[in-house]
Amino acid sequence: MSEISVLTIDGPSGSGKGTIAQLVAKKLGWHYLDSGAIYRVLAQAALKHHVALDNEQQLAEMAKNLDLVFVIDNDVLTVLLEGGDVSNLIRSEQAGNAASKVAALPLVRAALLERQRAFRQLPGLVTDGRDMGTVVFPLANHKVFLTASAEVRAERRYKQLKEKGIECNLPALIAEISERDERDMQRQVAPLRPADDALQLDSSAMGIEAVFKHVSALCTEV
Ligand code: C5P
Repeated sequence: MSEISVLTIDGPSGSGKGTIAQLVAKKLGWHYLDSGAIYRVLAQAALKHHVALDNEQQLAEMAKNLDLVFVIDNDVLTVLLEGGDVSNLIRSEQAGNAASKVAALPLVRAALLERQRAFRQLPGLVTDGRDMGTVVFPLANHKVFLTASAEVRAERRYKQLKEKGIECNLPALIAEISERDERDMQRQVAPLRPADDALQLDSSAMGIEAVFKHVSALCTEV
């Protein structure tokens, strides 16, 4: 993987990885892959077509043929499922939880592997998720594992959802996030964990600016 650089940022929900990944991609002029959005869209497609979230065969088939398009315009990511804008719909915590159910299925993950790898294009790729550095891009040039305390993460998600106009309450959010993290860490395939060669950063007491500086410095050292 030497000619096209990849920076992977993995971590639990609310660790700030999406924000940082987008900022770094913008600074470097690299492509950006929000891998979690793929699982969110697949879960949304399952709900739309009345497919149970544990029907592994059918979900894997749907994953292979998923009509999903990412459009980035003026730094805003729009997500289209079968031509319809689902950008906001997929961001609720319920959608995140549904995503983590379909993401636990091995055949679904296998079906989505090449689609994710295809985002690795010149001049480089910044990607965020759970298994970017361990499974999807194991030879990435730079790997970060970003985390933060459970309280800080829940508060960040709460703020993010409110800003998007999505209804939520903090105690329910804390419960949903811990249920999702637990499922993501305990699943048999590609569980959430830092790659052995990842830089581990705890952002609990760091502002976005400080994390951004730290992560982008990694890539300018290439
Ligand atoms: O990152 P985001 O919160 O959008 O991810 C939603 C869910 O998708 C996660 O909780 C996780 O279960 C799944 N996911 C995954 N592997 C990735 C990215 C997301 O399993 N690389």
